[in-house]
Amino acid sequence: MKSIQIAIDGPASSGKSTVAKIIAKNLGYTYLDTGAMYRSATFLALRHGLTMTDEQAIVALLEEYPIRFDRSHTGEQLVFVGETDVTLPIRDNEVTNNVSVVAALPLVREKLVAMQQEIARSGGIVMDGRDIGTVVLPHAELKIFLIASVEERALRRYKENQEKGIETDLDTLKEEIAARDYKDSNRAVSPLKAAEDAITFDTTGVTIDGVVDFISKKTKEILDK
Ligand code: DC
Repeated sequence: MKSIQIAIDGPASSGKSTVAKIIAKNLGYTYLDTGAMYRSATFLALRHGLTMTDEQAIVALLEEYPIRFDRSHTGEQLVFVGETDVTLPIRDNEVTNNVSVVAALPLVREKLVAMQQEIARSGGIVMDGRDIGTVVLPHAELKIFLIASVEERALRRYKENQEKGIETDLDTLKEEIAARDYKDSNRAVSPLKAAEDAITFDTTGVTIDGVVDFISKKTKEILDK
């Protein structure tokens, strides 16, 4: 059966990874969370006390501690740098608040984009990030750009944090999300933007199932062609 590449881009907390995971599972495709790779690079930089702009040193760390994906016995995707499981620590505030700086470094992007393209060669893939439709998989058969209001995205993050027992302030979350949007959209290399041939979908007020249904229908249209 024909397998395709699906690129899902959009700003922080627009629901990309949740829906990308479900779509990949339904189709039996590989799911690649590229944000986790930029987060892993940031984790390494912080752990080794580097300046967040020292791109050569960060790339050297990525060579020494390669990023690897694996599965837990319950089927959850795990992220490793070298032998260290960083699945949880890459979601910490310290990483979240520094990742936009590391993700703006050209050498880091070059290295991670090459890895992402290599992974995509293995067959059907659903990849989520900021530059998948524009840079990583410019020939993806389906490109989706998910957006949602800052208020809604902050509220989603707030609820996620509450479920994890992390206390956060909603206004602070709004400010952090808006700041990250700004940095991701205004950097010189591969800024966050919709590819010309992407379908933009506003998920404000739409359930996860609603977004999954929309993307599944678009996928089916392509596979049935
Ligand atoms: O999706 P996320 O929040 O886990 O992404 C973390 C950061 O990585 C985000 O600030 C933007 C950056 N990123 C990127 O520049 N390019 C990608 N393809 C994925 C993420």
